[in-house]
Amino acid sequence: MSTVDSTVEPAGEPTGRAMLEVDHVTLRFGGVAALDDVSFEIREGEILGLIGPNGAGKTTCFNVMTGVYKPTRGEVRFRGQPLTRMKRFQITRLGIARTFQNIRLFKTMTALDNVMVGGDTNSSVGLLNALFRTPRQRREEAETHRRAVELLDFVGIGRRAEELAANLSYGDQRRLEIARAMATNPKLLCLDEPAAGFNPAEKQRLMELIRKVRDQGFTVLLIEHDMRLVMGVTDRIVVLEFGRKIAEGPPAQIRDDPAVIAAYLGVDEDDAS
Ligand SMILES: Nc1ncnc2c1ncn2[C@@H]1O[C@H](COP(=O)(O)OP(=O)(O)OP(=O)(O)O)[C@@H](O)[C@H]1O
Ligand SMILES: [Mg+2]
Repeated sequence: MSTVDSTVEPAGEPTGRAMLEVDHVTLRFGGVAALDDVSFEIREGEILGLIGPNGAGKTTCFNVMTGVYKPTRGEVRFRGQPLTRMKRFQITRLGIARTFQNIRLFKTMTALDNVMVGGDTNSSVGLLNALFRTPRQRREEAETHRRAVELLDFVGIGRRAEELAANLSYGDQRRLEIARAMATNPKLLCLDEPAAGFNPAEKQRLMELIRKVRDQGFTVLLIEHDMRLVMGVTDRIVVLEFGRKIAEGPPAQIRDDPAVIAAYLGVDEDDAS
């Protein structure tokens, strides 16, 4: 298969331009700061890793970026535009899509339908059209279908298109989640532990898929616990611990950062060296 979508910009090196900026974001749940004055940027065309121990604030960060939660302080901007007052569907339309740490699929629908529903946010079909199925709607439906088939192929589960999501293996469900997120035609794809529960070989294959996603022109934000994997696939890494950013940089630098080692291994910095 040549490209997933001809409208996607050609792949290339990260341009260095900021696509998304998390700007001094704090989010409190009662007394707990799930995010505490966190700032970082995601650059066009890169794979950015977001790592940190359990409870560090990684998923919360996704939730703030996708409009599930409004920050207590600070703001998130997408290509310069503040997301603070936007609804979730508006943020999706703007070009941010995500997958969930706990798989969220329509279990009683087929794999294909799951992806087609995902892709529907871009449809301009209104209620009247939906009732009377205009030629335009039929065209859009055909295009949504074509694209969904293509995406299932792309993530490697094309032959399972007609299976109910519930009947797919766990790994295929995770791949389906990625296809569904890609169907909204995002610029930025946020993956929350897409390889959770995978064995090393499956993880390796998933990382290859993520690289392929980026090569199609998508920018990727990846939460992943497996340090070795994250080092292998990302361009840069942001590390959170207890809601604070404790490090940011290229993998080689993060790997040797004593604070990161300590945070990740849950040992004292002195012991980690
Ligand atoms: N809706 C909520 N209400 C109250 N506290 C919350 C809520 N969501 C998250 N938290 C708290 O915020 C902190 C960060 O949680 P978050 O889920 O973002 O961590 P995480 O880095 O994704 O962890 P994990 O690796 O376990 O997925 C935790 O202390 C968590 O208990
Ligand atoms: Mg999480």
